Amino acid sequence: MIIIKSPEEIGKIAEACLVVARALEYLRGLVRPGVTTRMLEHRADEFIRDHGAVPAFKGYRGYPASICTSVNNEVIHGIPSDRVLREGDIVGIDLGVFKDGFFGDAARTFAVGSISPEAEKLLKVTEEALSCGIENARKSRRVSDISHAIQKHVESNGFSVVRAFVGHGIGRSLHEDPQVPNFGLPGRGPRLSPGITLAIEPMVNMGGHEVVVLDDGWTAVTLDGTLSAHFEDTVLVTDDGPRILTQETDKS
Ligand code: MF3
Ligand code: CO
Repeated sequence: MIIIKSPEEIGKIAEACLVVARALEYLRGLVRPGVTTRMLEHRADEFIRDHGAVPAFKGYRGYPASICTSVNNEVIHGIPSDRVLREGDIVGIDLGVFKDGFFGDAARTFAVGSISPEAEKLLKVTEEALSCGIENARKSRRVSDISHAIQKHVESNGFSVVRAFVGHGIGRSLHEDPQVPNFGLPGRGPRLSPGITLAIEPMVNMGGHEVVVLDDGWTAVTLDGTLSAHFEDTVLVTDDGPRILTQETDKS
């Protein structure tokens, strides 16, 4: 069942999302060769709590950290560790918070120093695919219009979309209905209406779409070892189109 949010609830979700947006911008400034993913974890945890929120992922189904840090061939759910980021790596940082009863969730993939032109293209296409999806988060469209727009942009650029994980509704729970796949035919699934909040999150592989989960029970990696990128925003469907809640620049 999709929960339509009231203006009051939307205000609280927006507050949580603002902490997410600011935390990710803060982390962007810390990503450089030589830092460990654990250092990013500590800084993120501290930033989130300093801003009156609680990390949403820590303890969620037993997840052991406040953020996910997924490096290179890691798709999502990489666990922060003593791994040192090297020049040329890409690192996906996924971050969720809980504040005043509501969740916000977003992810970015950052370049570590200078990266290959192919990796640059992967980041660009994945971020654009998120935009294509968001563009379809409009009233009277359907969930799979988002999915289809994402898949089309990714595949027309020669990459593949991960199918094993999907985006989701978000609000009082981190994961609510509906599921938001990153692939599929248009015109399917629930119809969108104002007050629906969605976490849209394309995961894009340079090679094939298949993923495997490592023995740690969390880290999803590409089956073929190719690079993978992940961008996510929490988005509100309004009467006048999509409003991105996890970008501070969107003040509409
Ligand atoms: N953005 C991801 C999601 O919405 C992050 C979840 S990580 C977990 O599913 F640790 F909380 F599972
Ligand atoms: Co999410």
